[in-house]
Amino acid sequence: MDEKLPAPDTEGTQQLLQQESVTRRNFMLKVGLLLNGAAALILAAPIVRYLLGPVRGKDGYLAWVDLGSVENFQEGETTLVTYRNPFTEPWDGETEKTPAYVRRNDAQHFTVFAVNCAHLNCPVRWFAESQLFMCPCHGGVYYANGDRASGPPPRGLFTYDYKVESGKLFIKAGQMPTLSNQARLIRELAPCPGTNGSTNG
Ligand code: FES
Repeated sequence: MDEKLPAPDTEGTQQLLQQESVTRRNFMLKVGLLLNGAAALILAAPIVRYLLGPVRGKDGYLAWVDLGSVENFQEGETTLVTYRNPFTEPWDGETEKTPAYVRRNDAQHFTVFAVNCAHLNCPVRWFAESQLFMCPCHGGVYYANGDRASGPPPRGLFTYDYKVESGKLFIKAGQMPTLSNQARLIRELAPCPGTNGSTNG
């Protein structure tokens, strides 16, 4: 005796499938929106920081940084040092280390140069034999006092403000010196005013 199987409920099955597909689509839509929102936040963060920059004030990215004992620097010599940028992010890695050249003019006075060429920011190198800073990118040359000697740079090397406290040399660092901030142009290698040796261009 043949037993008849019940007819499949195709309508109900289709409804179920449709509902499932709608639910899955909603889920994917929400995940997509969430990912787009997260991406937008990540992209917007630097723009917001840039826009809020002026609110921080001109010293917002500057702080005094310890370069160590003044005894580490010999009179009449230029020494390459590296300091940790005080305004770094955890993901900056090795780039948080910033080089600078310290020249001890005499017992009390220093000139601290940024290594960035005033043309397009390539790092300059100090050659003690010729007493010149030279830029490997386009041949910019600077004298020992930071003045431009030749090549495309439009000006001398940028310098840091500095002070001597408790036998230690400090520089005001953080923001990379450029034409648009507080970088200074040293015109002569003359003794600086004040006993604490703060440079004022
Ligand atoms: Fe130094 Fe161009 S970047 S000369």
